[in-house]
Amino acid sequence: MSGPGRPFLQIPGPTLVPERIVRAMSESIIDHRGPRFAALVGECLDGLKAVFQTARGHIVLYPGSGTGAWEAALVNTLSPGDRVLACVNGHFSTGFARAAAAYGIEVDRLEVPYGAGIPAAQVEARLGADGAQQIRAVLAVHNETSTGVTSDVAALRRAMDAARHPALLLVDTVSSLASIDFRMDEWGADVTLTGPQKGLMLPPGMAILAVSDKALAASEKARCPRSYWDWAPVLERNRRGEFPYTPATALLFGLREALVMLKEEGLANVFQRHARLGEACRRAVRGMGLEILCRNPAERSSTVTAVVMPQGSDSDAYIAHANRALGLSLGVGLGEVKGKVFRIGHLGSLNELELLGGLAGVEMTLRSFGLPVPLGAGLAAAEAYLLQTA
Ligand SMILES: Cc1ncc(COP(=O)(O)O)c(C=O)c1O
Repeated sequence: MSGPGRPFLQIPGPTLVPERIVRAMSESIIDHRGPRFAALVGECLDGLKAVFQTARGHIVLYPGSGTGAWEAALVNTLSPGDRVLACVNGHFSTGFARAAAAYGIEVDRLEVPYGAGIPAAQVEARLGADGAQQIRAVLAVHNETSTGVTSDVAALRRAMDAARHPALLLVDTVSSLASIDFRMDEWGADVTLTGPQKGLMLPPGMAILAVSDKALAASEKARCPRSYWDWAPVLERNRRGEFPYTPATALLFGLREALVMLKEEGLANVFQRHARLGEACRRAVRGMGLEILCRNPAERSSTVTAVVMPQGSDSDAYIAHANRALGLSLGVGLGEVKGKVFRIGHLGSLNELELLGGLAGVEMTLRSFGLPVPLGAGLAAAEAYLLQTA
């Protein structure tokens, strides 16, 4: 049961679903082998290409989740015993690496501390040291949702090119696509994977991939066991506007509407809106006298801010308090920063006033939790920035 007014789901996804999308999803279910369905699939695939910024990539859609998308990316391109270089800088990049290991793939981990981005120079050095070019793929998370860090994928591509290494580049854009600029073709990503529940503003329930020709060629030789995640039958049937199983029709109705909304706003404006709200949030956090986990300003995420809890306070306890006190949902600390950070999501269908409402909730609940946060200071910093940049 929820109380009056808008729920404050200030977690970094799933995000609130806009009315337009809710209405689109309430359409009556149609025959998934009929002509109306084929048209729906066509519109979704074309619209997604624009969002992935790919003309050459092939879109693969499954009912599933981001975790399933990791698996789909791995099993279609790699074989047990293959080596990959996994860039690990947080909870989700750790999960991506673990998924590879579960398939018997040998994982070389390039570990950096939570709060830092992927060091392109170290990737170049690792690939340069792989004289026999045995590393088959580089695994990277564009926006590490657990730490609020965005890595420079263009720099990663340049590093791979500088090392003259043929490895595939597999990129997780679960919390960046349709919120932070990501250019599949220009940055030479081979598999880009995402979910629907963040920048795409949909409920959870899909695994979405964009696949390069090079990755398609790799899939011919890849020997990881695969059945549900095998992308060959999906690609083949999608060309005819179908799926090899019963698809998530309601989510596809919603996806079509989300893609129209993103086109209406314009991708560049969507990125700009997220960047501006992200900066307003960070200024508010500093105004409250708290620290941001991501140290490098250039790597701070436009979709999520991980806030360091003051020494002696447990972030899980604070988050439970915020929920009880005001019905405010904040993201928990994950992995190594469990209990040490809380996360404020600022992505999806979000505007200035909604963000300010969430930030007011953070200020009030930190104070009622017993921390010496000056009331209004964070809000004032965010408001001043939003006015300056209006
Ligand atoms: C960067 C990143 N990758 C993967 C996932 C896993 O996605 P899902 O929870 O949809 O399986 C998440 C979830 O938040 C994520 O933020």
